[in-house]
Amino acid sequence: MRWDRTRLPALAAALRERLGAAHVSGEPERLEPYGRDESDTGTFPPDLLALPGTAEEVSAVFALCQAHGVPFTPVGARSGKSGGSLPLHGGVSVSLERMNRILALSTEDLTAVVQPGVITGDLMKAVEAVGLFYPPDPNSWEWCTLGGNVAENAGGPRALKYGVTRDYVLGMEWVLPSGERMRVGKNTIKGVAGYDLVGLFVGSEGTLGVATEITLQLLPRPRHVVTALCCFPGVLGAARGLAAVLAGGLLPRTLELLDDLSVEAVARRGVAFPPGTGAAIILEVDGNHEEALYEELSRAGELLAAHGALETVVARDEVQREKLWAARRVLSTALRALRPHKISEDICVPRSRIPAAVERFKALGAELGLTVVTYGHAGDGNLHANILYDSPTERPRVEAAIRRMLEITVQLGGTITGEHGVGYAKRDYLPLEQPAPLRALQVGIKRLLDPSCLLNPGKIFPDP
Ligand code: LAC
Ligand code: ZN
Repeated sequence: MRWDRTRLPALAAALRERLGAAHVSGEPERLEPYGRDESDTGTFPPDLLALPGTAEEVSAVFALCQAHGVPFTPVGARSGKSGGSLPLHGGVSVSLERMNRILALSTEDLTAVVQPGVITGDLMKAVEAVGLFYPPDPNSWEWCTLGGNVAENAGGPRALKYGVTRDYVLGMEWVLPSGERMRVGKNTIKGVAGYDLVGLFVGSEGTLGVATEITLQLLPRPRHVVTALCCFPGVLGAARGLAAVLAGGLLPRTLELLDDLSVEAVARRGVAFPPGTGAAIILEVDGNHEEALYEELSRAGELLAAHGALETVVARDEVQREKLWAARRVLSTALRALRPHKISEDICVPRSRIPAAVERFKALGAELGLTVVTYGHAGDGNLHANILYDSPTERPRVEAAIRRMLEITVQLGGTITGEHGVGYAKRDYLPLEQPAPLRALQVGIKRLLDPSCLLNPGKIFPDP
């Protein structure tokens, strides 16, 4: 994409005038972090950083970028795994980090109204303190933001029982690429007036605009949670056991799968596994009646044992539970420590196909002589399959393996991304899943809302 860089000084001056000099920066050391995220796809620093503090200011920043013909990219906490907030072509990073207030919390309506820069974990804690529950729990919840979760339609372990971010967004104040502000959606649980623009905008990966206010639905907080670690000799048995639990009429809130190297990485964080463990499942159930939960757990335990589970250990207390989840949350980062390079995938298959996916990825790794590590939210079919490798010279072989993995996924009836998004990381693979007319329809929607294609160019679809 080409744009006129000589327009930058005039844009910088206009932004400073509108936001105040303290909220606009062109200093390289200040810009540098905004060029990186958690996608391992490279570094793309912006030319300018704008930090609007209100919806009016976000709208003004967008309009000024459009008027100067300079690309602009919204950014949250940079926890993204597909490069969604990377300013690939430079221009302006528009960070929503200053807009970090919880505006309202209603125990009667069971709703929260938040600004996009609120940290997901801060909302979770605030609503739990008043007996409510916000279920979506991307593993970066301690530092990612709700605006970013909305942009990527973030999932997480509890999506198995509770669904993903989109299932909780009732309405939003939205700033379109032109800078125009609009309320979309509703404040009510039900509501079917007009097209479902919330459905379109949540998960639009920062390409159709940005949320400046989000109204979220909440649930009553379940009174009890019980967490168990089920250990298996190998990943295939674990995958089959997990499928049996779901087919057996049980719906735990998480069914996380860990293969041998994932178990090793979690064990390094001090979680104890019985000898001979080559795979594990983190099974968590919740509800209001503790006894019923133990009953559910024992029924699941029987099904898992029938598939070769070595042992099922129930977390003794909150400390043990938190230790296990803390180790799980950092798994993606911990795997980076095992080998110098890592590519992580995020596929999703119909859950009955999880054993087949696990088996075929393993076979693919063996065939190509690559280390494949698989873990993830297997209960809802969502697997993070990672390839670890030693040297950049192996990259072509690794890329070929990724393509094969995604082809297998699509053959199994799945999708190339379950929760991380297409962004920059996967834009070249979208044609594996979606035919040209479907992609063209979506590009048409993008062009309708952003004819200049200055908002977050190069994401989801190849460059205009
Ligand atoms: C996880 C992130 C990578 O599940 O989605 O750990
Ligand atoms: Zn995940």
